[in-house]
Amino acid sequence: MADLVLGQVLSFAGDPFAIGPAAARHWTRGGVLIEDGLIRAVGDGDALRTGHPMARVTDYGGALISAGVIDSHVHYPQTAIIASWGKRLIDWLNRYTFPEEMRFADPSYAGEVAGRYLDLALAHGTTAMCSYATIHPASVDALFAAAQARGMRVFAGKTCMDRNAPEGLRDTAQSAYDDSRRLLETWHGRGRLSYVITPRFSPTSSREQLEALGALWGEHPDCLMQTHLSEQTDEVAWVKRLFPEARDYLDTYEAHGLLGQGGLYGHAIHLEPREADRLAEVGAAVIHCPTSNTFIGSGLFDMGLSARMRVGLATDTGGGSSFSMLRTMAAAYEVGQLRGRALHPAELMWLATAGNARALRVEDRVGNLAPGLEADLVVLDLASTPAIEQATRRAEDVWQALFPTIMMGDDRAVRAVWSGGRCLKGA
Ligand code: GUN
Ligand code: ZN
Repeated sequence: MADLVLGQVLSFAGDPFAIGPAAARHWTRGGVLIEDGLIRAVGDGDALRTGHPMARVTDYGGALISAGVIDSHVHYPQTAIIASWGKRLIDWLNRYTFPEEMRFADPSYAGEVAGRYLDLALAHGTTAMCSYATIHPASVDALFAAAQARGMRVFAGKTCMDRNAPEGLRDTAQSAYDDSRRLLETWHGRGRLSYVITPRFSPTSSREQLEALGALWGEHPDCLMQTHLSEQTDEVAWVKRLFPEARDYLDTYEAHGLLGQGGLYGHAIHLEPREADRLAEVGAAVIHCPTSNTFIGSGLFDMGLSARMRVGLATDTGGGSSFSMLRTMAAAYEVGQLRGRALHPAELMWLATAGNARALRVEDRVGNLAPGLEADLVVLDLASTPAIEQATRRAEDVWQALFPTIMMGDDRAVRAVWSGGRCLKGA
C-alpha cells in the first residue's frame, strides 16, 4: 500500500552553493508519496491526496518534511566516549579512543554498540552514514548486521592500522588487505550496504599498508576510500617526520594509490595550496566535521573549498561532540561566521542531505525528495521547545522558521523518521 505523508516539504532542485537559496523547493502544505520503499511523487499535498485516494495518509501538520539527514564521517565505535574531556587529537586518541576501540575485540560488545549507535542516529534524524569501524573485522559485521535489521543505508569499513597504535589494535599490511577484501566481497552492494576501504590516517599505517590498500582500491574502484587529512598542526608535523620523502600530507596517500575521485578526506583544515589543487583536480571529496574541529581544538575549515570540490558535513562522533546533524549544521554556521561567511540555512540543509549524498556518490539514491529516490525522510517539529517556538513566531519564510531549529534543535525536534519507506520513529 502507498503512504502519503503530509506537512511542509523541503527539497532541492540544485546546489545552493552554486545558485543560491532558490535551489530549494518548498511547499507550505506539501506531500510525499511513498511506495515499495521509494518516493513516487513530491508536490502539493491536496493534489497528491486527490490523485491517490487509496494511500494511507500520515499528516504531520506544520512540521517540515525533508530528506533524511546523512552523516558522512563518523566512528560508531566511539559512541561511548563522546564528550571526553581535555585532550587534543593525538592525546585524545591514546587516552580515550584506542582503549575503547580495544574493547571491540569482543563481537558481542561490537553488536551492542552498533545497535545503540544506529538507534541514537535515527533518533536524531540521521538515516544514512559513512562510518569507521575498528581494526576488528567483526566490528564491521556488527554494524552492517545492525543496519540491515533497520533497513538503513550504511557505508563502513575496517579501520586499518599497523603502527603507532597499541598492541592489540594493530594489523599488518597483508592482514589489512586480506580482511578488507573479504569484508568488501561479503558486504559491498548487499542491499543498502557499501564497503569503504579505510586506512585510519598516515601516522598509523606503514608505507606497505598504504600500498596494499591502494592496490585493493585499484581492484575495486567503485568502492569509496575514507581517511583523515590535515586535521591538526601537530599531526601534520608528525606526518612530515614519518614521511620525509612526501611533498605534503596528501602526498602520503597519493604516492600509494590512495588519492582518487571516490576518496573521502576527513577534516582537511590545514591544507597546503598543492593539496587543495590536487583534491580539486582529481574530484575528491573533503568532509567538514565542525563540532569535532572545535571540540578537540583542530581549527576552522575553509568552506570556500566548496567552490572547487565536493564538501560533506559530518559529526565525526566521538571526536565530534554530538550525534545530531542539527547541532553539526549549527557548528558549521558558527565556524563559517568565524571565517567571515554566514552559511544560509539552505546551504546547511543541503550539506546535510543532498551534499552528503553527492560526497558519498549516491545522489541518485538518497539525500533528496524526488521521484525514484529511496524513501528516507526526517520530519522536523519547528517548535520543539519553548525557546525555539518563541523565536519562530515572527518568521516570514521557511528559512526564518527553520533556522532556530538548526541552531537550537536536538532530537526533540525530530518528530518522525522514515527509512526505506518504513516509519522507524514517530507516528
Ligand atoms: N585521526 C585519526 N583517527 C581519528 C579519529 O578517530 N578521530 C579524529 N577526529 N581524527 C582522527
Ligand atoms: Zn574521524
